[in-house]
Amino acid sequence: MSFPEQRPRRMRRSRAMRRLVAETRLHPADLILPVFVREGLTEPAPISSMPGVVQHSESSLLTAAEEARDLGLGGIMLFGIPATRDPQGSAGLDPEGILNRSIRAVKERVGEDLVVMSDLCLDEFTDHGHCGVIDEDGEVDNDATLELYAEMGVVQAASGADVVAPSGMMDGQVAVIRQALDEAGHQHVPILAYAAKYASGFYGPFREAVDSQLSGDRKQYQMDAPNRTEALREVELDLAEGADMVMVKPASAYLDILSDAVSISDVPVSAYQVSGEYAMIEAAAANGWINRRTVVTESLIAIRRAGATNVLTYYASEVAGWLREEMQGSGTRSADGGHASSAPAPPAPTGSGASPAPAQEPIKPRTAAAPDAPTEPHDPSRTDAGFPPVS
Ligand code: PBG
Repeated sequence: MSFPEQRPRRMRRSRAMRRLVAETRLHPADLILPVFVREGLTEPAPISSMPGVVQHSESSLLTAAEEARDLGLGGIMLFGIPATRDPQGSAGLDPEGILNRSIRAVKERVGEDLVVMSDLCLDEFTDHGHCGVIDEDGEVDNDATLELYAEMGVVQAASGADVVAPSGMMDGQVAVIRQALDEAGHQHVPILAYAAKYASGFYGPFREAVDSQLSGDRKQYQMDAPNRTEALREVELDLAEGADMVMVKPASAYLDILSDAVSISDVPVSAYQVSGEYAMIEAAAANGWINRRTVVTESLIAIRRAGATNVLTYYASEVAGWLREEMQGSGTRSADGGHASSAPAPPAPTGSGASPAPAQEPIKPRTAAAPDAPTEPHDPSRTDAGFPPVS
């Protein structure tokens, strides 16, 4: 008998073989695109710390939503940036405010085929940047904030949100929002609860994205990085309060928490690949230090492998475009991420069929970031994506 007896490498020899035995796959429907819409913009505005991501105008938001639909994404998550702010975050509760107005517009445009989700939090709307209102002692007032969340949830549901996503980490927020939705006749609107959301430095670029007014941090309400068991408690509480889906955030540095949450949750579990995770990949890729497409794909596969049902990621549309490209070019595309030449386009993966699929990339404008830094040797038997498309 030859040595070694066990040869796992047999199953890795060809791209086709690896595809056959892949334990985790990505699909456009697993991806949720977070988007920012800023009141008063006539053109999309770049976010310098998130190259390739923009603050949308109300009209470019609709274009992004249509693209997300045409690419077969699972959903879109809306964040609104108001023109004026106050201590209560009133613009977030105003049915005519930027977020609620945008929910209506997006829902009307793509709502048949794409799940329209809204961030339910006050931080974009308060002049102090906190996720709730401040009491006399200068602390975020949990219970006073809950009343506003309840109202905000109802306004968002009335505006057409398919899912509301409370991200403020107030105790009891899921229960209060559920009750308010039910009383207002929105029994059918699910809650995606940011259940285990950590006070994280990885949100840095998001602060620029939403023009955050925060000075200081959110450590009094978001979770503390060292804690693992406590995350289970947060998830259990949200499930008990009626969460229809739960989320772990950030994703990459918290894959243990994600895996734990999946093991105790009987509802879908989302993970949020946040702004800092995006920015780090972009920065390294722009320097030619990593292969952008390989790392983006690997980062998302890792989050799915840890158990996430779906992933919120700023890469959602771009990755969905890659997945489509690979389906089209199966067996013919080059190893360096180039386009397959002549394969016919498959039908659009979603819904109405009314909008033709975009023929090719680019999905969105990119900056100077080198798309394919030559950090890895050419090997024609492998795909950049490291995994196959699914049909
Ligand atoms: C709060 C909220 C934040 C993010 C999503 N919702 C910021 C925070 O909690 O400080 C961060 C998302 C990201 O960094 O991509 N409404």
